[in-house]
Amino acid sequence: MNYDIKDITLADEGRGSVAWANKSMPVLNSIKDRFAKEKPLKGQRIGACLHVTTETASLMETLKAGGADVFLCASNPLSTQDYVAAYLVKDHDIPVFAINGENTETYYSHIKAVLDMKPTLTMDDGADLVSTIHSERRELIDGIIGGTEETTTGVIRLKAMAENGVLAFPLIAVNDANTKHMFDNRYGTGQSTIDGIIRATNRLIAGSVFVVCGYGWCSRGLAMRASGMGANVVVTEVDPLRALEAVMDGYRVMPIADAAKIGDFFCTLTGDINVIRKEHFLIMKDGAIVANSGHFNVELDIEGLRQVAEYTGRIREYIDEYSLEDGRKIYVLGEGRLINLAAAEGHPSSVMDMSFANQALSTEYLVLKSKTLKNLVYSVPEDIDKEIARLKLAAMGIIIDTLTLEQETYLKSWEMGT
Ligand code: ADE
Repeated sequence: MNYDIKDITLADEGRGSVAWANKSMPVLNSIKDRFAKEKPLKGQRIGACLHVTTETASLMETLKAGGADVFLCASNPLSTQDYVAAYLVKDHDIPVFAINGENTETYYSHIKAVLDMKPTLTMDDGADLVSTIHSERRELIDGIIGGTEETTTGVIRLKAMAENGVLAFPLIAVNDANTKHMFDNRYGTGQSTIDGIIRATNRLIAGSVFVVCGYGWCSRGLAMRASGMGANVVVTEVDPLRALEAVMDGYRVMPIADAAKIGDFFCTLTGDINVIRKEHFLIMKDGAIVANSGHFNVELDIEGLRQVAEYTGRIREYIDEYSLEDGRKIYVLGEGRLINLAAAEGHPSSVMDMSFANQALSTEYLVLKSKTLKNLVYSVPEDIDKEIARLKLAAMGIIIDTLTLEQETYLKSWEMGT
């Protein structure tokens, strides 16, 4: 079997950690049990480009239980848990191409290795598989029935492709499911980003000025958690509605040019490029800590920082020091790559449970329905989204009310007022 991982002997370590994650993934486990009986993915070859984590291992096992052959590469050079890669190869014969810390060349060679397996379905986190297929491996298109996309950044890329009329097979935007972004993006990113910043720095959040760039679902989660730990949260935004929401959620909102002067911690989660630029680094306080938790390492203009500050070395794992001319120091975490996966372990399993349940069920849906779909970006069907919420509540032992007949009638009527 072809694979490229750090060290197969790490498999034993991976086994325990995957089992631990699995304990918090009841919804995915129930899908796995059904898949094992019904084999809805029989004959499919799934090429996956995801963060190689314990939770992803559970998803790979689920897809394989459903009858698919699966091939996995990393969706970020720094997020691979090498012991998980080893476990998947050793225990499940899944070809994995991912090594933590791989350079850009190896990263893309791993994407190509997965594409060499001629997938019939793609599963992306950031749209790198789909974009490589469309730009360099077009001969694969006829054999692909569709794909899924995990993250906001990837969905934005795919929607741009669909709008330009270049998308060549149907895609399901898993990120847009309520049971994905309302939980994974908000509570998952909120907790894991704080986790990454703390693991990297071991600094106290309480009493600090914590600047959150952006106020989408991920940023809302981070602002909420930083505030909960006693930080004085400042939000920067370009969208007036989101900025207003941040104000009414109790945060100070201001341009990055003002926030740059007062922040102790900075974290970007916007999905756009060069959100913190050299003019902002130049006015930061001595000791400012700067991180990114957006999908790509484009949000911090590190090149610009290098133009105005000297790189003075990695002073601790994940912390790079830059010295401005007057001696002030700026600290960049995890090379500006998404800090929740670079320095921590990504979102906790209980939220990935719902995200990956959406992945598994969307893949099954594509197998059933792809012939009726156009080359567009589709939402996860509402019944799948609702079912995942129901299963999650049930697994948590939470029972909810149902409408009485009278209430149902009332909701459908227009005659009744006060
Ligand atoms: N994205 C964010 N957290 C993740 C995790 N734990 N596993 C896979 N993808 C992720």
